[in-house]
Amino acid sequence: MIRDVLYKEFKIYYKDEESRRLAEIVLDKNYKVIEEYKNTERNYVAKIEIGGRFYVLKSPKAETIIPQRKIQTAFKKGEGLTSFININLAKEMGLDFFIEPLAVMVKRGLFLKESFILMKYVSGEAIKTIEDIDIIMDMVEKIHEKGIYHGDLNTSNFIKTADGIKIIDTQAKRENFWHFKRGYDILTMKNDRLTIELNYEVEKRYKVKRDIGYLLAYTIKNFKKLPIVEKIRGLKVKLRNKGWKI
Ligand SMILES: Nc1ncnc2c1ncn2[C@@H]1O[C@H](COP(=O)(O)OP(=O)(O)O)[C@@H](O)[C@H]1O
Ligand SMILES: [Mg+2]
Repeated sequence: MIRDVLYKEFKIYYKDEESRRLAEIVLDKNYKVIEEYKNTERNYVAKIEIGGRFYVLKSPKAETIIPQRKIQTAFKKGEGLTSFININLAKEMGLDFFIEPLAVMVKRGLFLKESFILMKYVSGEAIKTIEDIDIIMDMVEKIHEKGIYHGDLNTSNFIKTADGIKIIDTQAKRENFWHFKRGYDILTMKNDRLTIELNYEVEKRYKVKRDIGYLLAYTIKNFKKLPIVEKIRGLKVKLRNKGWKI
């Protein structure tokens, strides 16, 4: 069961007292940064140390700075809390290969202002081989079967640990009927750097259901590949680098 408590200007969501204590330490900034994996305006991910143990601290910032996404947070829980709740549910369904947050810290008024996800640091290696991707595709089939989709399905969002391959960077959301999000997952995986490099045939291992949702995902993906659309995206990135909040 996920509980919550107020601490400073944040609400801490946690399951056990130890995690709550860790969250407080993080909000007190009594931790040491070991390595920053990502530190951009839109995202922060770092390996940190507390009391001789390693953790990963993530702060998804895009939803608090991009206006159209920020507005949506008036009606939404935000990435951190959503992933905590959903991964917890997935675990109860017997899907135990997600890296579950230990605690999530959320500061909000009408809109979400700031949020942190605290996870255990899992040591492991990047995905490299066809056999690894086979295992990933089997995992994807299992979560898709339960209606859960990843949302950013690519090999960099999996870690190969001594305890098997683990999934990161997902909110583990569900779709109920059509295979739009699940189709989108598969089409994203087809564009993954490693699957392309290894000539891995994504849909040979697991073929997502081709319904109207899939067709829509397929159409959108192809639309995004049009030269004019790519040009606009390039322009967007340029403006973003200049400080535009888009
Ligand atoms: N719990 C974790 N343990 C170890 N490494 C992690 C963990 N979470 C994230 N990482 C590392 O940080 C990188 C970025 O994290 P990720 O959640 O994928 O953020 P992004 O949204 O920027 O892709 C990952 O590719 C992985 O190398
Ligand atoms: Mg990632």
